[in-house]
Amino acid sequence: MLDNKENAIGVFDSGLGGLTAVKELMRQLPYEKIVYFGDTARVPYGTKSKEAIVRFSMENVLFLIKNKVKMVVIACNTSSSLALPLLKQSFRIPIIGVIEPGVKKAVRVTKNKKIGVIATSATINSEAYAKGIKKLNHSIRVASQACPLFVPLAEEGWFNNDVTFSVAREYLKPIVASRADTVILGCTHYPLLRSVIQKVLGNKVTLVDSAKEVASEVKKLLKETGLENNRRHSPKHLFWVSDQPKHFRKLAKRFLGYDIRNVKRSSDV
Ligand code: DGL
Repeated sequence: MLDNKENAIGVFDSGLGGLTAVKELMRQLPYEKIVYFGDTARVPYGTKSKEAIVRFSMENVLFLIKNKVKMVVIACNTSSSLALPLLKQSFRIPIIGVIEPGVKKAVRVTKNKKIGVIATSATINSEAYAKGIKKLNHSIRVASQACPLFVPLAEEGWFNNDVTFSVAREYLKPIVASRADTVILGCTHYPLLRSVIQKVLGNKVTLVDSAKEVASEVKKLLKETGLENNRRHSPKHLFWVSDQPKHFRKLAKRFLGYDIRNVKRSSDV
């Protein structure tokens, strides 16, 4: 299986937020087929225990492997924070998460050595981002803030309204106070609220989008492992969910900017 360049890249997320990573993968790797799995029956992961998140993530990888993918991208920051080491130990297929790519970029761009991290409660409590940053540069100061209400606001499509502004102003107080010049959007949904977050933090702050960074890492990894599909064609992507495919399709338009047709429900996960 590993030497099959034409096999798809598997991507999973707790729901539909991982489509922000898919959008970037499609842009950077237009000839790669993507098989996506969104665990819409069990979303959100960000408020759940490590045990539950690890178990769900294992099942998601098994599902993708059954669908003959050549590698797995964990688009979900919460799964990447809590399950990546165990997943890597458990499977032979290359698996890549969003934390390290986001960390590398933030460490590269910060000038004042102060980085803010915003993410789900589970991601913040895991300290995956903070530890990753410290590992690369111990002298960097990290301010972390969980912003759980950002997920439903993004799913509601409230990208730019008063409620979202009030919530953002409240959540981002400690990040503003930390004077971080670089802030990691450590959750799949936050790129959708980018303009509100940028306005609250001010134009001088650089926002790092982990979804964008992971796509570049995937590109590199495919080249290194010889798994890159160079056949010029329009791949037929597949989208699987564990519940409510119609609802997923409707919201997917918000994330991707266009309609997707092949969304199926899986009873395997
Ligand atoms: N996909 C999750 C993440 O990136 C956000 C939604 C959830 O809590 O499941 O952390």
